[in-house]
Amino acid sequence: MQKYMKSNWKKNKEGHDKYWGELYNFIAQNSTKYTELEQEFLALNYFEMKGSAPNFKIEDKLINGDCSNYVTAKQNILYNLIKDRIDGADYLIDLGSGWGRNSISYSMKDPDQKIIAGELSDSGKNITKCFTKKYNLPIESIPFNFFDFTTLIDYLKDKDISKVMLFSFHAIEQADFLREEEFRKLLALPIKFKALHFEPVAWQYREQEFPFGNHYNQNFKEVLESLEKDRILRVNNINHTHYQCNTNAGGTNSTLIEWEKL
Ligand SMILES: C[S@@+](CC[C@H](N)C(=O)[O-])C[C@H]1O[C@@H](n2cnc3c(N)ncnc32)[C@H](O)[C@@H]1O
Repeated sequence: MQKYMKSNWKKNKEGHDKYWGELYNFIAQNSTKYTELEQEFLALNYFEMKGSAPNFKIEDKLINGDCSNYVTAKQNILYNLIKDRIDGADYLIDLGSGWGRNSISYSMKDPDQKIIAGELSDSGKNITKCFTKKYNLPIESIPFNFFDFTTLIDYLKDKDISKVMLFSFHAIEQADFLREEEFRKLLALPIKFKALHFEPVAWQYREQEFPFGNHYNQNFKEVLESLEKDRILRVNNINHTHYQCNTNAGGTNSTLIEWEKL
């Protein structure tokens, strides 16, 4: 209980509303210049990166990124992983979707896949909605909070759904202590779930000290292991070197985790 008290998602929301708000202003001011999704998507990525991309690693190989190969590499890595596993899921669900970059990027390659982009910040959701509306993408943007899954559960339970794939990219990282009961409630829905995450939690598996000194997640491994022990899910893959989107502590701890509901 004490751990839950620490979670300050409102402050986090304020910070992200401000951060994504600057990107929203860019889109609001520049959108008329673009008629092609690829162009506008790249322009927003470039604006966010302020002209220089981080170095990144694929299977431990260091790549000096420029903005273009950074965006393309990430798009290809995530697309290939998801497409090989999505197996006809009714929805791909992007949890903590930010401005929607991964949802939009996946949609560019698989335009028929229905996607739910769940995000805490309003400015992030608003950017996703701009892209969705303008380019007619099958992405539904919904409010979502890692500390309370009610909006997602309510959304799913009213639909005729048999299979979904959950996805998160450096988003669970923002929830210091996840609430296991929220996963239990979600997984109690009569739906087949599988999940693919990239989250900076390698230190949890290596039993190293918490490397961040901020609000970053500290219990994802613990939650998964507890749900696994109760045979609610099975973790199928843990890979600490598949893809690291930068070379700071966030990137070097980035871990691919896959699980499925039992
Ligand atoms: C590092 S960004 C990553 C966004 C996106 N996944 C991407 O790859 O661009 C983390 C995101 O998590 C969101 N977030 C922070 N706290 C959250 C919470 N409690 N519930 C849901 N999302 C949250 C932030 O608003 C932000 O958009």
